[in-house]
Amino acid sequence: MTTSALSKITDPGVRDALRIKSAIVGRPLIGPKSVNIHVINSCNYRCQFCWYFSPHVKDHPKGKMLDYKVLEGVFRDCQEMGVDEINLEGGETTVYPYWMDAFREVHDLGMRLIAYTHLDYEADIEKLRTLAYAEQLTVNFSAMTEESFKRVHGKHTSMTRVLKNMDRLLAIRDKIGKPKIRLSFVVYNYNYKEVPAFLEMAQQRKVDQVMFRFFKATEEMKELVFNEQELSELRDIVETALKKEYCFPHDLKTLQNLLANGQMLEKIVALQHTENHNDRLLFYDATGGKTNCYVGWFYGHIDEKGRVIAPCDNVSVCMAGNIYERRFKDIWFDNQPMWDVLNEASKGIHTCTNKWQQCRYCSYVPINKYFHERVLHAKGIKADAS
Ligand SMILES: C[S@@+](CC[C@H](N)C(=O)[O-])C[C@H]1O[C@@H](n2cnc3c(N)ncnc32)[C@H](O)[C@@H]1O
Repeated sequence: MTTSALSKITDPGVRDALRIKSAIVGRPLIGPKSVNIHVINSCNYRCQFCWYFSPHVKDHPKGKMLDYKVLEGVFRDCQEMGVDEINLEGGETTVYPYWMDAFREVHDLGMRLIAYTHLDYEADIEKLRTLAYAEQLTVNFSAMTEESFKRVHGKHTSMTRVLKNMDRLLAIRDKIGKPKIRLSFVVYNYNYKEVPAFLEMAQQRKVDQVMFRFFKATEEMKELVFNEQELSELRDIVETALKKEYCFPHDLKTLQNLLANGQMLEKIVALQHTENHNDRLLFYDATGGKTNCYVGWFYGHIDEKGRVIAPCDNVSVCMAGNIYERRFKDIWFDNQPMWDVLNEASKGIHTCTNKWQQCRYCSYVPINKYFHERVLHAKGIKADAS
């Protein structure tokens, strides 16, 4: 099938079935479902837990951003390849000088747009309208009082300003159905006690989704890692929170499973900083040791240097190409070395090996389980017989 014929397959179910089939035959039959693009790595927040700009990190990365002409080419390729969704991320997306053009372009090409932004800026009506091109915005909250917000994100930040913008966007959502607001909370040893108040705020404001991210540590941020006592308090907090009903979907259950089965603090491994990834302090294993990983057939990742990374943005596993050197569609559809890595991952990876040890911090465990069931089903194998 030519790539332009792929854009004519509009049924998302058929597109997903083609991706499952890609995982089975071992080469892509359609573009990824979603392409996550880090348009810029600069950010005006200084989140304590941020692996790039935390005050605990000594060498902050040099500012890099994507050339907008090249990015436009990627958007056109994606539309042609049958990509459903573009996910714009940073750094801080709105620090990218061309973010408004990018939002409009993705919208005009008919792909679903989602983006990450902290919402901590003066937003005039044009800015708000542009933000509303997105189907969903993920806003990183991670604190619940003005004082702790400044401690978590940096002293120049303002929770009041974020809430004001969020409320204006929620009012737009109530009128036109978007942007949906997904709040995220990165849980670490300072802010975990604020989880109940955060859930209450999300409930009061009727946000669309709540997502918890368990804190991923780097060696330099080790003072933010939980001790046993804090982990046990967090388990209680999550258990209590799970007893309540919420008007939005959330992933507290995933957090609960991770806290119960993630081998917390059992096998701590520190990885040195390299050119391809920051340093890591792996203090849990979200996979339980082994996982069948299919996300590479569904999600594409492009970083601010133009590197296409597979199977996910766990940077050191496979550098599949660079959009400054090859078209994105060629990197995707003509790339035996990348397919070899995706096939290896689909068959199952062990996090005790050097190559895949960073997968201990996997955020895709539930989705990979779902993909695994679909692959088995498509092969005619019963899930419990695997
Ligand atoms: C690179 S950040 C920047 C996106 C955007 N500026 C924001 O504030 O959300 C992308 C996401 O990674 C998450 N993140 C950053 N550092 C993390 C860490 N150490 N552990 C887990 N998640 C982290 C944040 O929640 C953030 O939503």
